[in-house]
Amino acid sequence: MSKETMRLYKEYVERAGSRIEVFREVRREFRSKRVLYPGSYVHLTPSLIFPEVIFVDSDIRAKRFFSCREEIWDHINQFKENEEEHLFQFISGDYQSEMNIPLNSIDLLISEYAGFVSIHTKEYLRNGGILLAGDSHGDATLANSDPDFLFLGVLKECEGQYCFQKGENERYFRRYRNMAVDLDTVKNTMKGPKYSKSADYYIFQKQGRTNEKEKINQK
Ligand SMILES: C[S@@+](CC[C@H](N)C(=O)[O-])C[C@H]1O[C@@H](n2cnc3c(N)ncnc32)[C@H](O)[C@@H]1O
Repeated sequence: MSKETMRLYKEYVERAGSRIEVFREVRREFRSKRVLYPGSYVHLTPSLIFPEVIFVDSDIRAKRFFSCREEIWDHINQFKENEEEHLFQFISGDYQSEMNIPLNSIDLLISEYAGFVSIHTKEYLRNGGILLAGDSHGDATLANSDPDFLFLGVLKECEGQYCFQKGENERYFRRYRNMAVDLDTVKNTMKGPKYSKSADYYIFQKQGRTNEKEKINQK
């Protein structure tokens, strides 16, 4: 990467973490290949794990970063964790606008600190596809109340790695003293509510006319 591009990426990862263990576990568990990452900023790390990633961001610095294609290819090819050919694409703009991505074509949608990705981009996710969402902005809470998504489980840290866990799902998204979740407040404040049990990463599966065999959580 050019020095400036490399510095931006390195500084970002130092500050926000690469979170590569999270993506490793999602790939291991769900075998996702084609990924959409709305509000990615310069968080290139998913491209080291998944063979095809579409990054989307409206920030001009992300546009500049992803325009250094050669340097980014070099980085991906040097650090990718498998032998597959990796492709990436960057869409500069608002993910709430229509994007030139085929509907129902994405295996994994990433929602990390970037607003209500699950609401605005779920039509690109195929039925049976996976949503990886944090709740910092309340997106996991919104997905949990959306009939298009089934809550499959969480990613929990275990011995420096992340592990998919689905044994205690009924204990998540519960407010203290069984208070109701006010979705309007979540939307207005862009903040996830406090729950009695929470996780850093929540996993959902898009529902629809899904062939039963596609349902990943039945294994
Ligand atoms: C806090 S950063 C998080 C970056 C990355 N998701 C991560 O977890 O490291 C939020 C990013 O989302 C982008 N963003 C927020 N809303 C967006 C929208 N509607 N369309 C495109 N980008 C958006 C911002 O430009 C910013 O780069």
